[in-house]
Parts: sequence; structure tokens; C-alpha cells
Amino acid sequence: MNLIVTESYAESCLYAAHQIAALIQQTPTAKLGLATGGTPVPIYRELARLCRAGEVSFAKVRTVNLDEYCGLTGQNDQSYRHFMEKHLFSKIDIDTANTYVACGVGDEQTNCRALDEAVLAGGVPDLQLLGVGTNGHIGFNEASETLTAHAHIEQLSATTIAANARFFAGSDEVPTRAITMGMQNILCARRILLVATGKAKAEAIRGLIQNDDVTTRNPCTFLKLHPFADVVIDRTLAAAAGWPDA
Ligand code: F6R
Repeated sequence: MNLIVTESYAESCLYAAHQIAALIQQTPTAKLGLATGGTPVPIYRELARLCRAGEVSFAKVRTVNLDEYCGLTGQNDQSYRHFMEKHLFSKIDIDTANTYVACGVGDEQTNCRALDEAVLAGGVPDLQLLGVGTNGHIGFNEASETLTAHAHIEQLSATTIAANARFFAGSDEVPTRAITMGMQNILCARRILLVATGKAKAEAIRGLIQNDDVTTRNPCTFLKLHPFADVVIDRTLAAAAGWPDA
């Protein structure tokens, strides 16, 4: 695991966007694993700017997203399919047929197998972008006694529902279940790029950067098992997580 401490969240996002753009410039057919939530929004904004400026083309890029809420169709404006269209896909030259966001409605077993297949189709992702939950979740693999290897349905924790309520009219509106990549689906990517900001993430990040332990109680610690995982955090979060040089 490689820790990158930046001066600010804005700098972290520029760093992440430029890493992704450099990968696509080198490998125009790159396959990206993508995340939703608040953290990646400025990363997608910068990627859209680079695309508009002609510096990077997504014409041959393929993507697969980490997760989707159960019970929401892709047309629902709270769905992660809608999020991706709004913040990235509609702003770049990607072919929508080359993008995959799991289906949140219909037969759940079928949807899980389809997500497993999408992760592997045409080869594993070249890069998986991640945020992290306040409880250390990656994708929607919630902190628990056990974690799950493959795509599955996860019951969202009270902390996740509370954290995501800001995107909804209220916490009652937040779906309580989600389909998510499992830990193997995430860790099979050739490279991982986790971006985090905010003091609410300090405990999760502390467990990631302060020791060599791996625990299901803080799922992001599993990134320590990956040989090419970059963790990008700003100085404020690094200090809150007890990083001595911050
Ligand atoms: C999103 C996802 C989640 C988020 C995490 C952090 O697709 O899988 O793991 O990355 O909940 O969310 P934000 O960035 O909103 O703090």
C-alpha cells in the first residue's frame, strides 16, 4: 500500500483524475472500476474537463461500478446509474454500451452473477477507484464479523444510511439494501486508488495507515493485501488519523 498525502482534498482529486487520465492515455482501451458518493465528484469533473480539452478520450474505455441501491431502477434520479450519467458519462465521449452499473431491481441472484461477470468481462479492471465509508466500508462491504468475496446484496448499516441521507429528502428515503462488488471483485483490479477526505473518515484511515493489521471490522484494511493500492488523503485527514508527518 502506498500512502500519498496532499495539501488539500482538491489536490487529492486532481491527483486521482490525472492518474486515471494517464492510464487511459497509455491504454486507450482501459477498463475502470468506478465509485459514486460525494468523494469522486471533483475527480469526474476534472476527467470531463480533460476530455473536453481533447487531452483524453474515453471512446474505447470500459467501466464497471462498485454498487447500486436495491429497489431503484437506473432511471431513478437517486440511482447510482443516474449519478454516473450525471457526473461523468454524459460529459465524456464514452459509449454507454461500454459502461456497467449493476441492476437494482429484478432477480437479485441474477443481478449478482451479472455483476461478477461484468468485473471479469474482457479482463479485470486496470484500475479501481474507491471512496471509503466512515465505518471503513469499500463498495458497500460493511464492517462486520465476516466479509463476502463476490457480488452480493448487503444490508446497509445505520452509519451508512445516516451518511447517505444527505443525498435524499431524509434518512427514511435511503434504500436499506444495495447490490455491491464483494472483496475479491474489488481486490482483483490491477491497481487501486482510494481517495478519502473529512475527519469522519479518520478512524477508518487510522486502521489503514497506522499498522499492518487486516480486519473485517474495517474493510478498507483489506487494501493492505493488494500490492498496488494507492491511498490518497489530504493533510487534514492524515493528521486526524494520527499520521506523524502530517
Ligand atoms: C460508492 C461506494 C461507497 C462510497 C463511500 C464513501 O459507490 O461504494 O463505498 O465510496 O460510502 O462515500 P462518500 O464519498 O460520499 O463519503
